[in-house]
Amino acid sequence: MSTRTPIIIPVITVDGPSGCGKGTLSVFLAKQLGWHLLDSGALYRALSLAAKSHSVELDNYSALEVLGTYLDIRFEFDETSHKIHAVLEGQDVTQELRTESCGSDASKIAAIPGVRKALFERQRAFLELPGLIADGRDMGTVIFPEAQLKIFLEADPAIRAKRRFNQLQEMGVNANLDDLFLEISQRDRRDRERLVSPLVPAEGAIIIDSSNLTIDEVVSQGMLLVSRVFPDLMANLKTKSGWLERI
Ligand code: C5P
Repeated sequence: MSTRTPIIIPVITVDGPSGCGKGTLSVFLAKQLGWHLLDSGALYRALSLAAKSHSVELDNYSALEVLGTYLDIRFEFDETSHKIHAVLEGQDVTQELRTESCGSDASKIAAIPGVRKALFERQRAFLELPGLIADGRDMGTVIFPEAQLKIFLEADPAIRAKRRFNQLQEMGVNANLDDLFLEISQRDRRDRERLVSPLVPAEGAIIIDSSNLTIDEVVSQGMLLVSRVFPDLMANLKTKSGWLERI
């Protein structure tokens, strides 16, 4: 009788609140390693948009659960812009997905146990060879507890609000810093205090406080961790510029 060794697909989880550099680090790692990327927040955001377009109230738990189960969302890589586009029910919703109100609605529905359950398998399905970078709130605690490397990014809420403010200004979008701070604080509280899958560092997670770090420094620290956990991967990196000299 032959015994087959199960294939272990490597996964790195990147969790933390919004505005601490999680998304940038995740995209960078996925590109460098040539791995798949799961932006789990985009699923909750897309579900909140689907709820709106189907006139489902955010307190209608059972309808949201059904919507989550059948959510028709695709992520497509655009060869021209080199960006990932989110296509919900055939419509490109990439821009809409990034608004503050969408993030706020997403955090409300993300507290519903049935919604999280409905999106569980869909997130697990992203785990494919050669590996996965999973960005979210509960990647290391609930969705991929087997991850070989778990990173938890933190940053002062006032600094995160300022970063978001600058980002919006660069995009030509009017914003109010106080409103952004309030919004971030409310969203943090909802994410940290909810009963299911609250935002907490997973056991064994490496915590990086990015409050006083540039994004380059966050990326350098991330790559340093990767090089320690996956030393064999470092020989096959896509590019070796910048961060390598610094670590
Ligand atoms: O990461 P992003 O800001 O896009 O996530 C939007 C919201 O979705 C978060 O505030 C959080 O409430 C929810 N979320 C979650 N679990 C995840 C990812 C996102 O609850 N894994």
